[in-house]
Amino acid sequence: MRRSYVAGNWKMNLDRQGARSLAAAVREHVTARTRADVALFPPFVYLADVVQVIAGASIRVGGQNLCDQGVGAFTGEISAAMLSDVGARVALIGHSERRHVYAEGDAAVQRKVARALAGALEVMLCVGETLGERESGRTEEIVRTQLSAALQGVAARDLARIALAYEPVWAIGTGRNATPDQAQAVHAYLRGLIGGLYDDGQAERLRILYGGSVKPDNAKQLMGMADIDGVLVGGASLQPEAFCAILDSGK
Ligand code: 13P
Repeated sequence: MRRSYVAGNWKMNLDRQGARSLAAAVREHVTARTRADVALFPPFVYLADVVQVIAGASIRVGGQNLCDQGVGAFTGEISAAMLSDVGARVALIGHSERRHVYAEGDAAVQRKVARALAGALEVMLCVGETLGERESGRTEEIVRTQLSAALQGVAARDLARIALAYEPVWAIGTGRNATPDQAQAVHAYLRGLIGGLYDDGQAERLRILYGGSVKPDNAKQLMGMADIDGVLVGGASLQPEAFCAILDSGK
């Protein structure tokens, strides 16, 4: 059985003190009895603070993005090696805000996945369709294209370091979450794709998180679905009580 995975994407929010106190509140809540793996994605500039605050706790810290190049003249970018160096263990790649606000294409996402894996990081890879794409019946085509492009060149042995996050763009920050059935259908489809690209055993082991307006009152139902192995939380992850309640909703 796949262990639940609950992650908080803080996006471009908080100040240094706010990041430290939020991390401390989550740390306080996570014990040996916590049934989910936990990851926090603070802004880059607060990574070191959060790593320090959660030291010794069973909480992963990750970068919200990383550069698709290794080192050198890339002003404003952060490399996989830099993330590891400050104690981050995961890279969030292909978030819809990167894809849609910053025009990050599938080829860049693929290069970032390769960089993260080569740098010994774990990857949380996001895929998801826009409202227009869903309404025109293209959800499967869109997530299939995003997934197969991102995993191009990824060896089967490295799949163990990847988790997927299905985040329908129309559900992010809108208060309109996908219904558990809508999300389950896409998760099952993604798992099937992994089975085809790799094998059924790998597909069974891969964790697929749902993201998009996850709140304490819908988390349990979502994570109760067969192929929903966790949640990637935006807005509600900034409120310690809400995020901790979601953490407790794992299977
Ligand atoms: P919200 O939970 O605010 O909808 O954001 C979801 C998200 O983008 C997490 O990465």
